[in-house]
Amino acid sequence: MAEPKDFIPFHRAIIGDDDIAEVVDTLRSGWITTGPKVAAFEQAFARTVGAPHAVAVNSCTAAMHLAVAALDLGPGDEVITTPYTFVATSEVILYMGARPVFVDVRPEDANIDPDLIEAAITPRTRGIMPVHVAGFPVRMDRVMEIARAHGLWVVEDAAHAIETAWKGVRAGRWGTAGAYSFYATKNITSAEGGMLACDDEALADRVRHLSLHGMSRDAWKRYTATGSWYYEVTARGYKYNLTDVAAALGLSQLRKIDAWHALRQRYAATYAAAFAGHPALVPPAVPADAVVAWHLYPLRLRLDALGIGRAEFIERLRLRGIGTSVHFIPLHLHPYYRESFGCRPGQFPRAEAFYEAEISLPLYPGLAPEEVERVAAAVVGIADEAMQ
Ligand SMILES: Cc1ncc(COP(=O)(O)O)c(C=O)c1O
Repeated sequence: MAEPKDFIPFHRAIIGDDDIAEVVDTLRSGWITTGPKVAAFEQAFARTVGAPHAVAVNSCTAAMHLAVAALDLGPGDEVITTPYTFVATSEVILYMGARPVFVDVRPEDANIDPDLIEAAITPRTRGIMPVHVAGFPVRMDRVMEIARAHGLWVVEDAAHAIETAWKGVRAGRWGTAGAYSFYATKNITSAEGGMLACDDEALADRVRHLSLHGMSRDAWKRYTATGSWYYEVTARGYKYNLTDVAAALGLSQLRKIDAWHALRQRYAATYAAAFAGHPALVPPAVPADAVVAWHLYPLRLRLDALGIGRAEFIERLRLRGIGTSVHFIPLHLHPYYRESFGCRPGQFPRAEAFYEAEISLPLYPGLAPEEVERVAAAVVGIADEAMQ
């Protein structure tokens, strides 16, 4: 079914002529996979987040997998994380034969509650994987205190959080390593892509080595004029390298990140002003000392004040030409986690309460200010009609 002409989708990627030119430049260059554009993207990204080292890979999932592999996570180990995330965070722990241990979230922002972490630590705990949900910062100062006290590593899932900061430090820059996503819907995209940032050169080298089959030299180095055909496989690696075609798009999009972030902030402020004080709406609040990336706009409904449920609210928005989404269905509610790990509803009540009330509204720099006003008015209109 074709969308009506004035439909406002939940997300629309912005690909400009500058992005296309950068990709075409790579396509015409004679070198399309990992090479000079990846190196340039890594350097530019490292500067953006203030990291000494950044390694580009083909997804954030790959970045997190390589981080935990390089940190020698293995069978019998446990990693503390949150059920309020996309499945990738937990999946990479399972890839290593280790066990994800979920702890519940803060009711305000659905981020892992640091006050619940210590009770989940056992002698098998190796690390913590917090997630900056929607681009709201995890209380990383507390998480790091706990990690240091217990000798644990921390891999931050900063898929939503390139621009995020807490107490002046960027998301992904507090922990042992931080992983970022350039998936099609993210704040900047390389269609598919990810980056791992860290302080430790040896860790970055290990991740880079594992990202291309554990080979001693990558193809670019072998095929240049000064390269040699000889290589050795020195570890069991993976095929996670980013292509230069993707890196060209990422590099071009990265130049626009500040301007786009300013628009996200402006649109979030439009929503906040429209929803402030409404008895049936709980807009997300920006904490003091925080920069929020605004990857998502997670509005919550006060369902007890409304005569309709969340699904009906979403349907009424759709009928008014507005696409929305829900982030996230907590992992412990999914059949695989219930069947494989005995997870059950009721286990993480704050995650469930957040999920049941949440609607992610359209929030991206490709929206026109009038479209944001239209979404805000529709939300308020539906909430007013449905108030009991
Ligand atoms: C919180 C979170 N972590 C990780 C990922 C995985 O990112 P990628 O698709 O780049 O592997 C996503 C992707 O949607 C995500 O939302």
